[in-house]
Amino acid sequence: MQTENIQDNKQEPLRILVFSVSLRKDSLNTTLARLATIVVKKNGGKVDFANMSDFDCPSFNQDLEVNNFHPAGAEEFRKRILANDAFIISSPEYNGSMPGLIKNVIDWVSRFRPQPFNEKHALLMSSSPSMGGGNKALWGLRMPLEHLGARVFPDMFSLATAHKAFTSEGNLADETLSKRFEANLVAFMQLVEAAKHYPCMKKAWVEFLGEKPDPVTERVE
Ligand code: FNR
Repeated sequence: MQTENIQDNKQEPLRILVFSVSLRKDSLNTTLARLATIVVKKNGGKVDFANMSDFDCPSFNQDLEVNNFHPAGAEEFRKRILANDAFIISSPEYNGSMPGLIKNVIDWVSRFRPQPFNEKHALLMSSSPSMGGGNKALWGLRMPLEHLGARVFPDMFSLATAHKAFTSEGNLADETLSKRFEANLVAFMQLVEAAKHYPCMKKAWVEFLGEKPDPVTERVE
């Protein structure tokens, strides 16, 4: 697909954290996440690829929160979120929702102050052998992320019959789908790029919505 390099004439490339929620060696979601890294780099972005095992946390328990304790996996996720302009998650769907391990680490990370998801841009992707492509996981995942102030991109990418969708090199075999995948990622990058380089857009958007920015109601929790 011919896309203009959206980083042209910009001083700093976009930094994007990319990871798959699956721990499985032959994960379809990890294959999709790796493909996303290629598209991001092709379009001028810098990729920070993480493994879900980097973010491993015990089951959330408020009793563990003694002396400001955060597990190492939550510390790592926080660090990587803050070090990047945006993040892309490729998640399996388990029983019509997101896997428990991603909700668990989101809950842990939500306990840091300042709360690191706030105002970070996110793109959600899924893949599944099913016809639904794991899309319900993404609606589940959107909820806590938006609750925490993440700017979750409206267009999500769900790869149906994913076990048959990839070539041996890990590309999408269907050309139309491949173009749609790239277009989805490029649209996301354009929004992140605009937010990074043109902060006045935020003010304009708030005014467009007719809201008055107020430190009391700005989300900090
Ligand atoms: C699944 N799978 C599944 N798929 C789906 O489309 N909808 C679903 O609700 C579920 N539920 C579900 C529950 C559990 C516990 C497992 C283990 C699996 C199938 C799932 O999409 C498939 O195993 C994917 O290959 C998992 O993603 P990775 O590991 O390949 O990235």
